Amino acid sequence: MDSGKQITFPLLMSVGTAVIGSLQFGYNTGVINAPQKIIENFINETYRDRYQEPISESFLTAIWSISVSIFSVGGIFGSFSVGFFVNRLGRRNSMLIANILAFIAAALMGFSKMASSWEMLIIGRFVVGLYSGLSTGFVPMYVGEVSPTALRGALGTLHQLGIVIGILIAQIFGLEMIMGNAEFWPLLLGFLFIPSVIQSILLPLCPESPRFLLINKNEENKAKTVLKKLRGATDVSSDMQEMKEESRQMMREKKVTILELFRSPLYRQPIIIAIILQLSQQLSGINAVFYYSTRIFEKARVPQPVYATIGAGVVNTAFTVVSLFVVERAGRRTLHLLGLMGMAVSAVLMTIALALLEKLEWMSYLSIVAIFAFVAFFEMGPGPIPWFIVAELFSQGPRPSAIAVAGFSNWTANFIVALSFQYIEVSGKKQSGLVINLVKHGLVWPEDKMQLLAFRQRLSAQRALSVHITN
Ligand code: GLC
Repeated sequence: MDSGKQITFPLLMSVGTAVIGSLQFGYNTGVINAPQKIIENFINETYRDRYQEPISESFLTAIWSISVSIFSVGGIFGSFSVGFFVNRLGRRNSMLIANILAFIAAALMGFSKMASSWEMLIIGRFVVGLYSGLSTGFVPMYVGEVSPTALRGALGTLHQLGIVIGILIAQIFGLEMIMGNAEFWPLLLGFLFIPSVIQSILLPLCPESPRFLLINKNEENKAKTVLKKLRGATDVSSDMQEMKEESRQMMREKKVTILELFRSPLYRQPIIIAIILQLSQQLSGINAVFYYSTRIFEKARVPQPVYATIGAGVVNTAFTVVSLFVVERAGRRTLHLLGLMGMAVSAVLMTIALALLEKLEWMSYLSIVAIFAFVAFFEMGPGPIPWFIVAELFSQGPRPSAIAVAGFSNWTANFIVALSFQYIEVSGKKQSGLVINLVKHGLVWPEDKMQLLAFRQRLSAQRALSVHITN
């Protein structure tokens, strides 16, 4: 078999171990969805014990919104610090060391109930956000650098697969009969300890990125040995040749700072593409679903909202697998655009379903279909592609800075959605007229521009969804 396309055990093991970091990110994205009410009760009781009076509605909403969204603030800082670690410690060791953060976060959240402290919960969410932000840089970078070119897209999608499986596990564990109850929610939040132990044991058995060894460290022999293992071939001269060429180019380029990414005409276009792709992913409003879907389904009068949430997780996972198989064939651009268009149509469907809910009871089922379709289209392209495309668009020199900038854009947008959703939801009714107009305008087909699509998508999906759930 062509060594450029062969999936060897060392390659699979390296990628599989790395994406435990993605799984952790996904788990912590999804974990606060189902137990919202239970943890709010804990906050409420703790407040009463401390201050001998009940907590106000607005203070409770504020504490909850902060607990949800501070995860993304951690992500913003984490993703921005990626370059600092990867060039000094290497890719693999950076992933290993980041686990310290996961252990600290697990302890803070796991013991918050025992210590009667919602502050520990908030700090724990921040720390696990830092860890996740770092992971969203480390993992795609490592996976991109160990994978043969012909498999970069498919293996890159495994980062997203790790994320969605993490979300699904969190949704299942969050069921009341498992850990989503008053007794076990601290275990639910502290669970990230276990994948971190597993990753810490496996990572030392995985190789360092051969690109890092050759290009950054100039250790040609080590790089060659690692490549032979990863490719399962004795002749790795074409890979080595390609890396050496990149290395020569990097000498000419010197180190590329974040500022230079925007200044140099060479990088400006790819960095803008990377940012826009990340923004379109987050501003699509996808995380309104993964942070708050149980609430959304409840308001759409779905009889078993928690199971509908799990259904969304299953659809999410299934379609990431579909994307895994088509991404090398269909092309990144086509899949991303197709996904965004599908999401826009699903959002309109959701709007219609919720608008007619009063008159037709079965519309609540249509709302489930609409959310499932929304999620499915997301995973066709806008979910996986923005994460791995950055490593693909840039060479070794600018790659760490570019990944940091892209990650920063992603997490900032993630934060905006997480924090504002609860508030938009409350003020939604007032805006319904405006939203209907926006949705109408959304139906006027714009030029074939990614920005316009993302903008329209964001308006129609996020606002329409949030407005109608209050009806
Ligand atoms: C992507 C997004 C993440 C989202 C997930 C849902 O990985 O980056 O924010 O929660 O997809 O599947």
